[in-house]
Amino acid sequence: MITISLNKINELDKKLIDLAIKIREKSYCPYSNYAVGAALLAENDEFFLGCNIESSDYTLTTHAEMLAVDNMVQSGNRKIKKIAIALIGKGEIPATPCGLCRQKILEFDKEGNCEIIIANLNHNNEIVNITYFTLSELLPFSFNSSFLKYFLNFETSNNNQ
Ligand code: THU
Ligand code: ZN
Repeated sequence: MITISLNKINELDKKLIDLAIKIREKSYCPYSNYAVGAALLAENDEFFLGCNIESSDYTLTTHAEMLAVDNMVQSGNRKIKKIAIALIGKGEIPATPCGLCRQKILEFDKEGNCEIIIANLNHNNEIVNITYFTLSELLPFSFNSSFLKYFLNFETSNNNQ
């Protein structure tokens, strides 16, 4: 984990953060009022975006990161290089993606070293801090497909790798 000031961030990461902040404006979150935006860079250098989408039943919520990942997979990409997430945070302790989203990202980051860039915003949508994590920092000792392969002799078919 490393916190970096905005003026030290490279152009690509700035672009990802900007995209995450922009797509956050599309969030549909009338129940929590907590908008989240995610922008990821896929292996083929395409960007994919997502925002959270809530539902009156309270359980059907799509998380921003999940939508970005699903959009990537639907387009035929199977690997995340890095992902930026924009969400409200207080500053000292970064607000990070939930456990479900960490697992979702892991599915398409087999090495666990995908960069996760967190842009915490204040209530005026200004960036208060930017923190870099690797996925393995956020999800150590994770459950992943290697266990299925080992114990169940599970093999993915060619078009499912
Ligand atoms: N949320 C996300 O979109 N991603 C996360 O990983 C954390 C939570 C959304 C879900 C819900 O709409 C709102 O934030 C409050 O939990
Ligand atoms: Zn989540």
